[in-house]
Amino acid sequence: MAEVRLRLSDDHHTVSEVLDQLLTALENKDVQTSHSKLDLLWARLAVHIRAEHLHLFPAVTDRLTDSDLSEAQAIVKNLRADHDFFMHELARAIGVLRELPGSDAKLATVADAVRAVKERLATHNEIEENQIYRWSSTVLSESEQLELLARINAELENRPPRFSEQAWANQLTLSDQDQSS
Ligand SMILES: [Fe+2]
Ligand SMILES: [Fe+2]
Repeated sequence: MAEVRLRLSDDHHTVSEVLDQLLTALENKDVQTSHSKLDLLWARLAVHIRAEHLHLFPAVTDRLTDSDLSEAQAIVKNLRADHDFFMHELARAIGVLRELPGSDAKLATVADAVRAVKERLATHNEIEENQIYRWSSTVLSESEQLELLARINAELENRPPRFSEQAWANQLTLSDQDQSS
C-alpha cells in the first residue's frame, strides 16, 4: 500500500480505537476516562481532518480533469459534510459532559452522540480509503506522494501541548494517567 494511504488509514484505526475506549468508559460510567478520551478523540479527529482538507483533498483534485474531477469534487463535498457533522457532534458532547457532574442521563446522551459519530465515521473512512486515498497513489508521481506524505505527517504530529507524546499516541495506561493527574 502506498505510504499516504497507509499513514491515513493507520490514523483511522487509532481514532477508532480511541472512540471504542470512549464508548467503554461511558458505558462503565467512568467520568474521568470519558473526559480524557473524548478530548483526545476530538483533538485527533481535528488534526486528521485538517490534514485531509489542507493537503490530501487539494493534492488529489488539482490533478484530476473533466468527469473524474466532478466525481471527486462530489465525493469530497460529502466527506466535508461528514467532517462538519463529526466535529459538531463531538463539540456538543464535550459541552454536555462539562455541564454537570456525571448524571447517568447525561452520559447516555453523550454515548448516543458518540455512537452516531462511530456509525457515520465507519462509512466515511471506507469511502476515503477506497477512493480518495487510493487516487493519491495513482494520480501523483512518486516524489509528489513523498512530499504529500511529509506534509500530512507534519499535520498529524501537530499535537496540542496539553497532550504528552504518549497520550497523543493513545499509549497511556490508566495508571500513567493517575500519576499525571
Ligand atoms: Fe475524513
Ligand atoms: Fe480520513
